[in-house]
Amino acid sequence: MKSYKIALVKGDGIGPEIIDEAVKVLDAVASCCKLDFSYTEALMGGCAYDITGDPLPEETITVSLNSDAVLFGAIGGTKWDNLPREKRPESGLLRFRKELGVYANLRPAIVYDELINASSLKPTVIKGVNLMVVRELIGGIYFGEPKGRTEDKGWNTMVYTRDEIVRIAHQAFKIAMTRSKRVCSIDKANVLDVSQLWREVVTEVSKGYPEVKLSHMYVDNAAMQLIRDPKQFDVMLTGNIFGDILSDEASMLCGSIGLLPSASIGDKIGVYEPIHGSAPDIAGQGIANPIATISSASMMLRYAFGEIAAANRIDAAIKRALSEGYRTQDLAQFDAKEVCSTSEMGSIIANYIQR
Ligand code: IPM
Ligand code: MG
Repeated sequence: MKSYKIALVKGDGIGPEIIDEAVKVLDAVASCCKLDFSYTEALMGGCAYDITGDPLPEETITVSLNSDAVLFGAIGGTKWDNLPREKRPESGLLRFRKELGVYANLRPAIVYDELINASSLKPTVIKGVNLMVVRELIGGIYFGEPKGRTEDKGWNTMVYTRDEIVRIAHQAFKIAMTRSKRVCSIDKANVLDVSQLWREVVTEVSKGYPEVKLSHMYVDNAAMQLIRDPKQFDVMLTGNIFGDILSDEASMLCGSIGLLPSASIGDKIGVYEPIHGSAPDIAGQGIANPIATISSASMMLRYAFGEIAAANRIDAAIKRALSEGYRTQDLAQFDAKEVCSTSEMGSIIANYIQR
């Protein structure tokens, strides 16, 4: 039996509820695929600040680095919005990503046939969409210096070095080789010097992947094209802030941001997390959609552990739950046979795995 150590970072808001469902599903998959998972919980975000005064306690890094992967929920909430920047939950998450060196954030957006009517877009536009946003995660304007604030001025700097662009570009091209071999690199090279370098370096790296077709697009156009004709995209390679925005946009092709998982990978261990936030407005009500997190657990099995059969089993169980008509509230307005709670959805998916 293969054993894996998983660090659970539940975080704030709906984080604990959705992680609990992912664990339920992991336990189901463990029993039928002869795997053994052990979990260690660690604090991050507002809950960590409340207990330790730091949104990212050192111990969370240690626990994570001693694990085989991190499964992460979400952080943040209005309660902590007025703290100084470095004490805010979001600063904890950014430091966490940086310390673990997870520079590549993979955000697949797949439109399930079962949910074709759940999107606000026309079925003909979205049917068959299957794209992957490859977002650079530990550079760009999120981290660039100088940055600062005075009473009347605030500033941040978008910086990328050649090496940072090279490594994320390689990730995008490697992923494209396993898919339909198209990369669209998204930048703002008509205005930004940092984007001009981005475009040059991505073009250089592409020479090592002659089978992959590379195109470039300005981010404003990409935001428009994603709604006009999303099927034109396979891998969308982009920097930190553009990827943040475009992946939220891509989620609405699929019907709900509550569906989209992500994998953040680098040279050490990976972090697997839903792309959505902590949704404090619905926390504790049992209405959050756990599928993004369950699907992130599937990505963890696939990418971190190479347990492909187990990952496929989770993906199939999610599809089955959707095709049987089960919907959490975020998806229920159109064609729900049965509106279910967060924990019911987790149990339904876990049951389909065991059967
Ligand atoms: C995400 C989130 C984070 C980000 C926030 C919570 C810091 O929006 O993972 O997309 O901007 O990266
Ligand atoms: Mg985001």
